Amino acid sequence: MSCTVAVVGATGLVGRAMLRILEERAFPAERVRALASPRSVGTRLPFRGAELEVEEACDANFEGVHIALFSAGAGPSRSLAPAAAARGAVVIDNSSAWRMDDAVPLVVPEVNPEAAHVRPRGIIANPNCSTIQMVVALKPLHDLATIEHIVVSTYQAASGKGQDAVADLEAQLRTLARGERPVPTVFPGPLAGNLLCDWKAGAEDYSEEELKMVNETRKILGDASLGVSPTTVRVPVVTGHSESVFVRFARPLGAPEAKDALRRAPGVTLLDEPYAPGRHPQPIDCAGRDDVFVGRVREDLAVKGALNLWIVSDNLRKGAALNAVQIAELLVAR
Ligand SMILES: NC(=O)c1ccc[n+]([C@@H]2O[C@H](COP(=O)([O-])OP(=O)(O)OC[C@H]3O[C@@H](n4cnc5c(N)ncnc54)[C@H](OP(=O)(O)O)[C@@H]3O)[C@@H](O)[C@H]2O)c1
Repeated sequence: MSCTVAVVGATGLVGRAMLRILEERAFPAERVRALASPRSVGTRLPFRGAELEVEEACDANFEGVHIALFSAGAGPSRSLAPAAAARGAVVIDNSSAWRMDDAVPLVVPEVNPEAAHVRPRGIIANPNCSTIQMVVALKPLHDLATIEHIVVSTYQAASGKGQDAVADLEAQLRTLARGERPVPTVFPGPLAGNLLCDWKAGAEDYSEEELKMVNETRKILGDASLGVSPTTVRVPVVTGHSESVFVRFARPLGAPEAKDALRRAPGVTLLDEPYAPGRHPQPIDCAGRDDVFVGRVREDLAVKGALNLWIVSDNLRKGAALNAVQIAELLVAR
C-alpha cells in the first residue's frame, strides 16, 4: 500500500525525528505533509533530499491523508485527531491524550503488535517514552516467568520535555560552567548540576509521569493487577532515558536464562559485560540508535529469583518517533 502521511508537530524534536526515520526506513509514502502550528507555516524542513513546506495543522489539511503521526502535545491531539480520523486517516498519537481510552490501543510493536489492528476510534496511541523502553526489555522475561512486581527508577533526559527544554538545559550548563547558579526558563528549577522531579502532580503523592508508567505498563502487558512501583527523575542529559529496574516473577528467573532471552529479543541489545566501571549502557552512546540497550543483569541479593537490570534508550527515537513509524509499518504491511 502506498499512502500519504502527515506529520503533525513536524517542527518539534519528535516531529523532526519522525521525518528522519520515515526517510531512513524508506517508508512507502507517496507524499509526506509537514503540519505544525500557525507560527511555523512556510518553514521548510529537509526530507528525502528536498524540502517540505510546513502547513497549518487544521481539519481541512487531513483530507486525503492515510496515516497521521501526531506529536504536537495533548491539546492539539484532543482537538485534531478525531477530525483526522473522521476523514479516514489512521492517527498514531504520541501525546498522553488517548493512551488510557478503552477504545484506543496502546501499542509497542515488539510487545503487542496485534492491538494496532483493533482501533474503533481510528486512533492508536504511542506510550510514554519511559514505558516503551521498559516494556520492550521486560516482555521477553514476562513471557518466560510472568512478572508480578516491577520497581523502576528513571533517569530521564531533558529532550523528553521538547526543544525549549533542551535549550534551557544548554543555557544552564553554560551558566554553571561560568561558576554561576543556573536560572531555569522551562524547568521549575536548575537542572544543570542537579536532579529534578519536575512532573505535574498526579494522585496519592505520585506524579503524572509515575502514574503513566503504572497504568500504561498494565495496559500494554494486559495485566491490570501487575505491580509497578515508579520514581521518575529528570537528569541533566540531553538525550537518552535510563532506568534502574527490579523485577520479581511468578517463578524464580536466573540471570543466565534472562540474558539468553534478552539476547534473542527483537529491538533489544544486551550488553553482557561483567561488572567493570564504564562497561554499561549509557545515554551518550545510545542516543541516535534504535535499540533498547540492557545491561547489568543481576540476580537480586535479597529476593530469591528476582532480577535487577539497567535499561537505556533514545527517548526521541524508540521512546517516540521510531515506535510511531514502526506502528505505521504494521498498518502498511497488512
Ligand atoms: N520528546 C520526547 O522524548 C517525547 C517522547 C514521547 C512523547 N512525546 C510527546 O510528543 C509531543 C511533542 O514533543 P516534542 O518533544 O517534539 O515537543 P517540541 O519540541 O516542543 O515540539 C512541539 C511541536 O508541536 C507543535 N505544536 C504546538 N502547539 C501546536 C498546535 N496548537 N497546533 C499544531 N502544532 C502545535 C509545535 O509546532 P510549532 O513549532 O509551530 O510551535 C512543534 O512542532 C508531546 O505530546 C510529547 O509529550 C515526546
